[in-house]
This record gives sequence, structure tokens and C-alpha cells, in this order.
Amino acid sequence: MPGQSTSTTETHRRAAEAAFQQCLNPACAATFAIDEARFGCPRCGDLIDVVYDWDRLPAPKSLRDFEAKWSRPLDPLCFSGVWRFRELLPFAPADKVVTVGEGRTLLQTADKVGRYVGLDAGRLMLQYEGMNPSGSFKDNGMTAAFTHARMIGASRVACASTGNTSAALAVYCSATDLGFRAVIFVGSGKIAYGKLSQALDHGALTIQIRGDFDDAMRRVREVADRLGIYLMNSVNPFRLEGQKTIMYRVLEAMGWEVPDWIVVPGGNLGNSSAFGKAFIELAHLGLIPRVPRLAVINAAGARTLHELYGSREVRWRDGLADSSKVDAYYGELDASGVKASTIASAIEINRPVNFKKCLRALHFCDGVVREVSDQEIMDAKAQVGAGGLGCEPASAASVAGARRLREEGVIAPSDRVVCILTGHQLKDPTATVAYHSADRENFEKVLGSRGVSHAEFANRPVVVADDLDEIVDAIARHSEPTAP
Ligand code: F0G
Repeated sequence: MPGQSTSTTETHRRAAEAAFQQCLNPACAATFAIDEARFGCPRCGDLIDVVYDWDRLPAPKSLRDFEAKWSRPLDPLCFSGVWRFRELLPFAPADKVVTVGEGRTLLQTADKVGRYVGLDAGRLMLQYEGMNPSGSFKDNGMTAAFTHARMIGASRVACASTGNTSAALAVYCSATDLGFRAVIFVGSGKIAYGKLSQALDHGALTIQIRGDFDDAMRRVREVADRLGIYLMNSVNPFRLEGQKTIMYRVLEAMGWEVPDWIVVPGGNLGNSSAFGKAFIELAHLGLIPRVPRLAVINAAGARTLHELYGSREVRWRDGLADSSKVDAYYGELDASGVKASTIASAIEINRPVNFKKCLRALHFCDGVVREVSDQEIMDAKAQVGAGGLGCEPASAASVAGARRLREEGVIAPSDRVVCILTGHQLKDPTATVAYHSADRENFEKVLGSRGVSHAEFANRPVVVADDLDEIVDAIARHSEPTAP
């Protein structure tokens, strides 16, 4: 029987390898060698996980061991905020690592934003992933997936994207000079200009499909299959290995203490899945005393997770989540012709590919899911900008979500809350300028169509004549010092 011969091979593989790949479905549990490209289980179609036999690996005894890497910034594997944790993603030989110096990001205490959320002073922290070379958290995953692509000798790499994945993909192809060729699929008119400009500038072959992200995702899988192109979306399990390190850096910046909450926007659900896996492994290794709670925030116009988890109560159930409920919901979406629609274009996704892994994360981290309106997203984004680093709309869903959970009393004022700012402020200037400027026509076009009716926190530009007295007068009228 084919099943029998496969399982004999599996036993041998598992005995031979401390890192391997495995189907997420416990009823299947097929395993694959680490040097295979698997973007779905060929037997049952479920997602694939990277799995480690920690007993056979030199796992760190304490998270403080990683501090030794700080003194070696000239070593690219210590400089990278991903690879300095490589003992916790030990799937690649050091000489295959593809890095552009990603993951040197920042955890910033943000009291002003914290007041808006409703937290006590010192309790809100913003993990600013916009500091990555391509301006979003995606670089954490790309460095790991490119490393795997290099391990297996792939050269053409592809993704579907709402913009940031494609920008990161294009950067890794162009900055590394290792012969990688980027093919990216984007929904026509669906990605913010900052992101599209990156893909074009970095020389990626850019295919604009007349459709949205969900359409592009379906097509890129078909094309990758047919042409044997290496897929760089987060169905690629190595992407998530890299994204685990965002959580390691959060802990590192907190002196290895565990916050009460991690709040993250949910789109394709790669981040939330990766964060859950990070904490499952850290707990297994005895490296953390407890796990934080996880809050995943959908935009109301792209609310699949909220609907399936919150309303239809689909749960992880040891990997046997009820897929008939998921299929039924997708059937309803198709029948009604409903497409995802939100100003947070990065998370304008109705069929999140990592849904099941996200269920695992929610289960392990006692998670909650909420949805927030585009109005809440844009107001929270203005508060983030006024309070420090700034972000793109999708990222602000985390802050809007934290505020919602505070109002509900799910988050307490004294909880230590980390919101992930997934993308740089400059990724989507169109949304920002529409919110702040006084141009009502532009506001209606960009934001009104999304149900945003007002801009409570707008910082309007002041228009004055080219006249010294008028300029001085305008400054006097508009520059009252603000109270701390
Ligand atoms: N925030 C930003 C800025 C993003 O670009 C994305 C996803 C998310 C949040 C959602 O993260 O998928 O892990 O739940 N952007 C993808 C892209 C889909 O194509 O750039 P997720």
C-alpha cells in the first residue's frame, strides 16, 4: 500500500532529521524532508508546519544567552534581528542564509497613544516593524523563505500580495544578487502606491490581475504549481519561522519579561500563526514562565476570522477544526458576491490562507478576535502618528482593536499591551493625506466611500498667502503649546 511505504520512509526521515516538515492535520501527519518545497500537503491539502526535534538540537538554556550576539554586529547572522535567534529556527546551514539586515526593529513605549487606548502610563508598547529594509514586517519572513529557496536551489520566486509581501520579495531579489527572479501578482488598483512603487523600482515582474487579493492568491498558486516557481506567500511555512522572531524581539526589548497582551492585525493570518508557534515552542523549551494573550484584529470589511471564530465558533480542536463551517462561509461569500473592502488595503482579504494555524495560536494563547471599522482604523492611525512613529492603516487596526478591548474591559488599564505596527507610515500616503487635508472631495473619494465620515484627529495644513505678516500671524494663531 502506498500509505505503508510512505510511513516507513517517514520513520527514516524523522530518525535522520532534527528539522522536518509535517502536515498540520493530525489524521494525516505526513512528514517531509526539510529540503522539499511544500506549500500544502499533497495527501490531504492541509497546511504544512516546520517541526523541530528539540531533544537533538542545541536549544538555548535561557533567552539571555542571545545577548552574547549583541557584541558581534559585524557578523551578518548576529546583525540580523531574525538570525541572531537562529537556534530557535534551526532549519538552515549558516552558509545558505539570505539576509539584508532585517529585523533591527524597535519596541517603543507610547504613553500618548496609550491614553487614547485607555491604558495606564507605561503600559502600551508599539512594536515598530516599519523599520525593516522594505518598510514592513514581511522582511522577517522573507529572509527565512529565501534562505530555504536557496537551500533547495530555487531561482524564480513568486507571491500574490496586497503590496508589502511583493515589496519585500522585490527587495530580497534585487539586493542579494543571488540570481533570484521576482514574479508578483497584485490585484489591479488594489495596492497602495508606496508598495507598488517599491515592486516597480526593484525590478519585479509585476502582474496586475483584474481582481482582488483572493483572486491573485488563487492564481499564483496555480501558476507556481504549473511552472515550478517557488511560492513566497505565508502558506510557505518557512515564512512563519522568520516571523516568529518578532516575538523574540518583543521579549528581548522587555528584558525577557512576557507582556499580558500581543495585539496584531489579521489579514492572511501569517503573523498571528507565527506568534502562536513562537510561544508554543518557547513554552515547550521552558524558556518563558507563561504565554501572553493574543488579540487578532480584522477590519470590518474583511472579517472572515471574526465571523468564523467569533460568531460560528470554529475552534482548533487539536487540529481537527470543522472545515465544513469554513467551506459553508466561503460558499455564502461566493453566492452573495461579497468581496473584501477596507481602507486597510494590506488586510483586504476574505480567504486567509493561514486560518487553521491562527486557530492553533488563538487556542494556545487564550486568544480573542475583534473587528474594527475603517473609521476606528483611521482615527487610531492618526493617534499613532501624533504619538510617535506612524504606520499604515492596516497596522493601526491593532491599536483600534486594543482600544475596543479596553472599552469592553477585556484588557485592564494596568495590562502590559504590545501592539504590532506592521508597516511604515509612508506605505500609504493617499489615506493619510485624505484624512488630514481639508480637501473634502478627496476625503469623500478615498475615505467616504469606505464609511469614514469624519476626521476627528486631523492635522489640517494651514493655507496662507505668500505674505510675511500673514504667515507670522498664522503661526501665532496655530502654534499654542500643547499640554503634556
Ligand atoms: N499589516 C500589514 C502592513 C500587511 O502588509 C499585512 C499583510 C498584514 C498586516 C496582515 O498580516 O497576513 O500575517 O495576517 N500583507 C500581505 C501582503 C497579505 O500581501 O503584503 P497577516
